[in-house]
Amino acid sequence: MNMQSILDSELFALIGYHIQLKISFALEIIILLYTVMKAWTLAIIRFFFNPRTKSMKDEIVLITGSGHGIGRQLAVEFSKLSATVVLWDKDEEANITTREMIKALDGKCHSYVCDVSVKEDVKKVAEIVCREVGDVTVLINNAGVVCGKNLLDIPDELIERTFRVNLLALFWTTRCFLPSMIEKNHGHIVNIGSSAGLTGMNKLTDYCASKFGVTGFTEVLNYELVFGGHDGVHTTLACPAHVNTGMFEGCKLRFPFLMPPLETQVTVRRIMLAILTNQKIVCTPRSVYFFAFMKTFLPVDVMQHILKFCGVSTFMDSFVGHQENHFQSSESKPCSNVEQLKSGKKSV
Ligand SMILES: NC(=O)c1ccc[n+]([C@@H]2O[C@H](COP(=O)([O-])OP(=O)(O)OC[C@H]3O[C@@H](n4cnc5c(N)ncnc54)[C@H](O)[C@@H]3O)[C@@H](O)[C@H]2O)c1
Repeated sequence: MNMQSILDSELFALIGYHIQLKISFALEIIILLYTVMKAWTLAIIRFFFNPRTKSMKDEIVLITGSGHGIGRQLAVEFSKLSATVVLWDKDEEANITTREMIKALDGKCHSYVCDVSVKEDVKKVAEIVCREVGDVTVLINNAGVVCGKNLLDIPDELIERTFRVNLLALFWTTRCFLPSMIEKNHGHIVNIGSSAGLTGMNKLTDYCASKFGVTGFTEVLNYELVFGGHDGVHTTLACPAHVNTGMFEGCKLRFPFLMPPLETQVTVRRIMLAILTNQKIVCTPRSVYFFAFMKTFLPVDVMQHILKFCGVSTFMDSFVGHQENHFQSSESKPCSNVEQLKSGKKSV
């Protein structure tokens, strides 16, 4: 073969390779357009018609912060759907009350004292749950705290507490229960974030930062599951606005008749529907989506003026929080299960 024919064949091979690359790229674009159109169509259909809800009969649902508010109501609703409910709260008395409410409904439930802000406590109690109840198939990270002060007024330990309860706890609980879900390709991780995890609120630097973290955590966890091919393990991020559980007692927006505090039951019903239909994100009320969307394209100053007009700047001024201060009282209690385990005492 002479030099010219070698050059010709190499040139043909190169052209062929480039044509092949272009065809496969064009194919990728066609597939991308098809999948995007399909996802859009499904999302639009989903907006008007709820998909079928899944059964909870054989599920083990663990709820953190089940002793009060949203967590308690979620526990009651899941037990009504015949799920086995596992209650975790640092407040033993409050958790017993939730347990009694479920028992009165003939529900199946197990309650444990667990301070989710203590990594060792989470690991130990998770082991006990696996042994005594079984593998958790639905994990609801709900426990949360707020202190509601200006950045310069928050004591260091309260800032750390906010992050340990609202965000870091999600890492410890999820890392305990996700492996068995992945192994069976069956499960659901639900994180209760907040509208304040999408749009910032005045005097809530620590709370908003932790809840923005919850949004990011859930988003990336979902990527890991989807890109890892674990299509049977789902995630849901719930972002409610002000709910009347007492956590934000005293707070109000400028036009409460337009955006009144949400009823706990209504909020929980909406979150339940999202979980039962494997919805990825649920915001209540719907105006939360609108504010989060506006933020992405409006100039920062314009958004600030709108938020100020709506009363976001003064929302926390009349903050009282939980009247009975049950966080503070339980904060001082030696509630760690590690202590109980050392003394061989069983949980609640
Ligand atoms: N109430 C609202 O307006 C509102 C709005 C948006 C999001 N949220 C979020 O919803 C979730 C539930 O809020 P809620 O209003 O029901 O709160 P809540 O104060 O009524 O109940 C929280 C429960 O979590 C428990 N808890 C606190 N720290 C804990 C810890 N370290 N370990 C274990 N349990 C702990 C408490 O004992 C309590 O039973 C929170 O994550 C909160 O941030 C609440």
